Amino acid sequence: MKLIENKNILLGVCGGIAAYKSVELLRLLKRHGANVKVFMTENSEAFVGRLTFEALSGQPVCSSLFEKVGSRSEHIGHIDWAEKADALVIAPATANIIGKIANGIADDALSTLVLAVTSPVIICPSMNTNMYRNRALQRNLDRLRQDGLFVIEPESGELACGTSGPGRLPEPEYILDRLLFRLSPKDLKDKNILVTAGPTQEYIDPVRFLSNPSSGKMGYSIARAAEKRGGRVVLVTGPTSLSDPLNATVIRVGSAEDMAIAVFEHMEHADIIIKAAAVSDYRPVDPCQQKIKKEKDEIVLSLQKNQDILEELGRRKENRLLVGFAAETENLEKNSVDKLVRKNLDIIVGNLVGRPSSGFGSDSNKVTFFYKDGTTESFPEMGKDEVADILLDRIVTMVRYRLSDN
Ligand code: PMT
Repeated sequence: MKLIENKNILLGVCGGIAAYKSVELLRLLKRHGANVKVFMTENSEAFVGRLTFEALSGQPVCSSLFEKVGSRSEHIGHIDWAEKADALVIAPATANIIGKIANGIADDALSTLVLAVTSPVIICPSMNTNMYRNRALQRNLDRLRQDGLFVIEPESGELACGTSGPGRLPEPEYILDRLLFRLSPKDLKDKNILVTAGPTQEYIDPVRFLSNPSSGKMGYSIARAAEKRGGRVVLVTGPTSLSDPLNATVIRVGSAEDMAIAVFEHMEHADIIIKAAAVSDYRPVDPCQQKIKKEKDEIVLSLQKNQDILEELGRRKENRLLVGFAAETENLEKNSVDKLVRKNLDIIVGNLVGRPSSGFGSDSNKVTFFYKDGTTESFPEMGKDEVADILLDRIVTMVRYRLSDN
């Protein structure tokens, strides 16, 4: 997640039972390379000790309006950090801080900081359900949205006070995801992006199938990254254990035939199609209706070729930008370029598979992009999220180039 690496993220913590989740959020931000400075309200110290935040952030916590930075008296803590901030996240945000922000009140370090920052501000309300539904609170939240602050809705569920309903602070991973959404360039805004991911399963009998080790991670990373950049994403995915990317239309399929139906149904509206799925090339000619019994020492399985979905997309492509993947164990360049040409693609992402840290199942990938103009770009091994972002960077450039060409 390069987006927050070495960036100054300010974390505001208010007095609520959910303050313990801010500790995990801080750890996540640090894990992704952010410099984090924590601002605590006086009440929050009743829930989590400042030492915890100081130890994990490696920075003194700011809770006083009069904290100075260094020895120079003109450097006041909250002003100094406000100027350096790349984003401010307040989690949990109580009704009190929301009311203060909505009305421009600055009577402690955190509320004063909010007035002084010019970076994006993300507010994560968390409180008792009745307080959350209160009209004054909702009015204040509307005011915040109108003022350009980004409000992350609380989750519904059982709350610490015993009531049930909206008011629970979302999980730190979700808050981080929405922070990245807020900070991402919206260079795919209004673009319809169709992504495929995962394996397909070709059943031999009701309890056995032919498949491959695709986990879906590569395709899901692309879908998540495209959504953050403002794209309208449709994800057609084979069976995976991954949770649905936020704000994407997710269509779960089983076989290559099911995937073909879903892809052709959604291709019409797509501006960009990215096929990261590992589609089975063959399926059993005559799958058994009942479980095959272990009676014979040897059985022969007859297979027939599945339709090549990508090749068909290449035929019907028109103005769409079409990207394929090639999973290769050898001759990466030759095999990838063959597919690029045969399937009429704009880019093919060649990836070496068959090693633990690249290709199927891993969190990282080692890829080379082959472009239709004959150029190539090779990358060192990197996280699949990073591969997804670089691929989308190249796609955005190609789309812009085409628009300026027309
Ligand atoms: O899911 P992960 O665990 O994260 O692993 C990622 C990955 C290794 C699956 C991914 O990076 C990848 O390489 N996907 C393509 C795998 C593959 O099927 O490669 P291929 O060389 O067999 O196919 C080439 C292209 O044609 C692919 O875009 C594929 O989606 C497409 N295809 C293939 C066969 C078929 N019948 N229809 C297709 O559309």
